[in-house]
Amino acid sequence: MAMLDILEFPDPRLRQVAAPVTTVDADARALAEAMIETMYAAKGIGLAAIQVNDRRRVFVMDTSPGQDQPQVFFNPEIIERSGAQVGEEGCLSIPGVVADVERADAIKVRALGLDGQAFELEADGLSAVCIQHEIDHLDGKVFLDRLSPLKRRMLQKKYQKHRQQA
Ligand code: NI
Repeated sequence: MAMLDILEFPDPRLRQVAAPVTTVDADARALAEAMIETMYAAKGIGLAAIQVNDRRRVFVMDTSPGQDQPQVFFNPEIIERSGAQVGEEGCLSIPGVVADVERADAIKVRALGLDGQAFELEADGLSAVCIQHEIDHLDGKVFLDRLSPLKRRMLQKKYQKHRQQA
């Protein structure tokens, strides 16, 4: 299966806002499958379509210990959130940089699966973080946007250095 190219910050295309899919058709399923392969190849736990320059509102995730339980979320929507947690986040579009980000601790998300059927999922811990991070991508946001201006500038410098060396 063809690997997809992952856009890297500060590519302006990462600022696009994704559009809901009307139906989960064969083409949408093929996109999700290619995104899963690309996520595994890049050793990530989540990937949003915006990151592979596709504006459809879909992300894939696998937070299972064995990396053998991929999940697909078309048109994801967080319908409940509670509590707060601070955890270290990285991003396949911002390689070499991690930072502590505050997120809701527990969420309930509604989406369409690979089969086109609606489902709801309650998540906490790492899965809740990942879902919030990926939905941010679909809204044109990256995790750096959630940091203080000072911290963001520091990390952007570090990132530029990392890119020059790469
Ligand atoms: Ni990301």
